[in-house]
Amino acid sequence: MSEYLIEVKDLCKKFPIKGGLLGREIGAVSAVNNVSFKIKKGETLGLVGESGCGKTTLGRSILRLIEPTSGEIIFNGKNIVDYTPAQMRAVRRKMQIIFQDPYASLNPRMTVGDILAEPMEIHGLHTEKASRRARLLELLNQVQLPADALNKYPHEFSGGQRQRICIARALAVEPEFIVCDEPVSALDVSVQAQVVNLLMDLQRDLGLTFLFIAHDLKVVEYISNRVAVMYLGNMIEVAESSELYGHAKHPYTKALFSAIPHASTEGRAGRIILEGDIPSPMNPPSGCHFNPRCWNATEECRKNFPPITNQSPTHQYRCYNPIQ
Ligand SMILES: Nc1ncnc2c1ncn2[C@@H]1O[C@H](COP(=O)(O)OP(=O)(O)O)[C@@H](O)[C@H]1O
Ligand SMILES: [Mg+2]
Repeated sequence: MSEYLIEVKDLCKKFPIKGGLLGREIGAVSAVNNVSFKIKKGETLGLVGESGCGKTTLGRSILRLIEPTSGEIIFNGKNIVDYTPAQMRAVRRKMQIIFQDPYASLNPRMTVGDILAEPMEIHGLHTEKASRRARLLELLNQVQLPADALNKYPHEFSGGQRQRICIARALAVEPEFIVCDEPVSALDVSVQAQVVNLLMDLQRDLGLTFLFIAHDLKVVEYISNRVAVMYLGNMIEVAESSELYGHAKHPYTKALFSAIPHASTEGRAGRIILEGDIPSPMNPPSGCHFNPRCWNATEECRKNFPPITNQSPTHQYRCYNPIQ
């Protein structure tokens, strides 16, 4: 068996753009473009990048909640891209997702007990009443909610508690891999650390593997073993967290990370302010998509899309003129 739980190869997702009176297809947005990466069992890969760069699309495509346009998703050694719905059912149990907004993803008319029991029902787990109840209580205990939560409704809980309910629901089917799509972005700062620590404890106790999408680079550094950076649908750099903070090769990564104070950098004094807006993914700049905002850009960067350079076995980037 491979040490990798999940391997994504050349994954693409294009969304059609419809226009005109007849609603014909007039173009496409390349939300995810030729993205490749691997995650080891028990590892957390962080995924960062500005809003709209394709993080959610990538996370959902891996689980086939939206269908990838092309590429391979190898889960536990098997390419699941062409799996039929029946084949996907068994895999789906092993791959779960936690969303940003814990309220929108919980049915307000269902009790917490019913919310947690639903995925077990779908997958035929703990069908016997006593076993079901024991499992529900175990799940609540795992996310540190009291047993009397079972008969309550989502609105009776705080934002952080609701996210704990969502985490318990994901755990209900005993997954191996969880896509955490900005799971703490909507929570108060004081609560964020508690939920992040809970996720880390669960990962250690249950041997979970995470793709952790986040805006907040501090949170990502804290929870991730490695971090991948996306820009306009492309993965432009991936490395161990400490390496990215101290020795980013791609100017975009450097700019992104320079915006946060950090012990290993010069702090705020070294901040790089990016000029210009993110270009439209419908009409990305030719060559490296970052070139119009890049202070290191050369003629080559305007013409060609940079290939992957291996800085080390754990550090890859796409840039013709990297930071030295
Ligand atoms: N269902 C959709 N139809 C058309 N375009 C979409 C759809 N979902 C996302 N997009 C586009 O794909 C790009 C990436 O979006 P998204 O994955 O949500 O980014 P992020 O999560 O990084 O903010 C954006 O340009 C967005 O407008
Ligand atoms: Mg998103």
